[in-house]
Amino acid sequence: MEKLLNKIHSKTAVIGIIGLGYVGLPLAIRFAEEDFKVVGFDIDQYKINKINAGESYIKHIPAKDIILATEKGFECTSDFSKISDVDAIIICLPTPLNIYREPDLSYITETMDTMLPFLRAGQIMSLESTTYPGTTEEELLPRIESKGFKVGKDYFLVFSPEREDPANPSYNTQTIPKVVGGTTELCLKVGAELYRNAVDTVVEVSSTKVAEMTKLLENIHRAVNIGLVNEMKIVADKMGIDIYEVIEAASTKPFGFTPYYPGPGLGGHCIPIDPFYLTWKAREYKLHTRFIELAGEINTYMPTYVIEKVMLALNSIGKSISKANILVIGVAYKKNVDDLRESPSLEIIEELDHLGAAIQYHDTYIPFAPHTRKHHLNLNSIELTKDNLKKFDVVLIATDHDNIDYDLIEKEANLIVDTRGRFRKANKKIIKA
Ligand SMILES: NC(=O)c1ccc[n+]([C@@H]2O[C@H](COP(=O)([O-])OP(=O)(O)OC[C@H]3O[C@@H](n4cnc5c(N)ncnc54)[C@H](O)[C@@H]3O)[C@@H](O)[C@H]2O)c1
Repeated sequence: MEKLLNKIHSKTAVIGIIGLGYVGLPLAIRFAEEDFKVVGFDIDQYKINKINAGESYIKHIPAKDIILATEKGFECTSDFSKISDVDAIIICLPTPLNIYREPDLSYITETMDTMLPFLRAGQIMSLESTTYPGTTEEELLPRIESKGFKVGKDYFLVFSPEREDPANPSYNTQTIPKVVGGTTELCLKVGAELYRNAVDTVVEVSSTKVAEMTKLLENIHRAVNIGLVNEMKIVADKMGIDIYEVIEAASTKPFGFTPYYPGPGLGGHCIPIDPFYLTWKAREYKLHTRFIELAGEINTYMPTYVIEKVMLALNSIGKSISKANILVIGVAYKKNVDDLRESPSLEIIEELDHLGAAIQYHDTYIPFAPHTRKHHLNLNSIELTKDNLKKFDVVLIATDHDNIDYDLIEKEANLIVDTRGRFRKANKKIIKA
């Protein structure tokens, strides 16, 4: 342990980041900024080539940060035999749900099996992927022990959940406090020391399970509160009350209230998915996670609610949806990011298309919306011009990027359906959804 701690202190420890996505790439850059040698491992050759060429493939990560990191020795590879060259293995791999909405840990377990022949004594492994409590103990620990290592003695294992809010100008990888839990006390000691070199505040907890559950509580807290405010929106709308005015007023309470905002449904890699990791694991204990299920029910209904609002809006001008031209503003899952994952806009577009509407979209963050595993779009973003706006029966605000000319939309659109409260006053032309 002392040898590894010394390497960490002297910054001669080599950091291996597994999975160079939204989580792994910023973390790799952060360690490189602190003068650690970083090796990135991925299976996507396109990303490896881009990064090694000093280019970014994620809009909010500037190429200059990657160039600075590569100048400090950051390199990426798909050669997992190089795992034996690194001192710290930090796993940032996807943890999606399978088609039965159950945890799919295959990215982690398969990569563990690939890495296994190259693990060596004196390494620390940290899992950052969001997952159910027990994953580190049940999936990682036995694999490491199968190599004959004694975890806590000659190998160190921690779970440290990633907290990220892409495009949030107030927080970054360095300033977001990081929770760490270890398999043993010594594992925690090494893990906390490792992360202290990259983040300002490390929060130590008593076990990997606590760290795993902490991340789930954070995300379930969001999912449930978004479900609540979505329900409140529907009720407020029926009562002729502007939910945004209500949220604004409630936010003046200096204690005990946190504002959450309604929308067209949940999006992103985390909030629609992570809560169901706990739901699945709770079944093993014969428990039901009713809040999670209920919030999930409300949140997954929201795209349908939006479509109903679009139909009603069209009805008000005597048009049927099957003959309508609809412009969707914003297809990213939230504003000011270029991330399409689980975006409710995709579901809305696809459903409107099934209903016979002709759909186009505008989103400078996503110039092209390709076919995905779940959605069959194949659309290009169109320009937001006066002439274009006039061609559509309805303009649907699905994601309210800040770079959109809302004044132009208000002036030129025939009808607006707003799912984000971007337009404050509803009227005959502006319908809140
Ligand atoms: N994106 C976020 O804001 C965020 C925030 C907190 C936690 N998380 C969690 O972090 C984890 C990673 O999420 P992400 O958003 O970075 O995912 P991502 O899809 O952006 O990145 C995953 C990366 O892993 C690579 N990969 C896939 N299989 C691989 C393999 N076998 N070996 C090596 N690389 C492989 C992919 O090519 C990709 O580059 C997930 O568990 C997620 O829930 C994400």
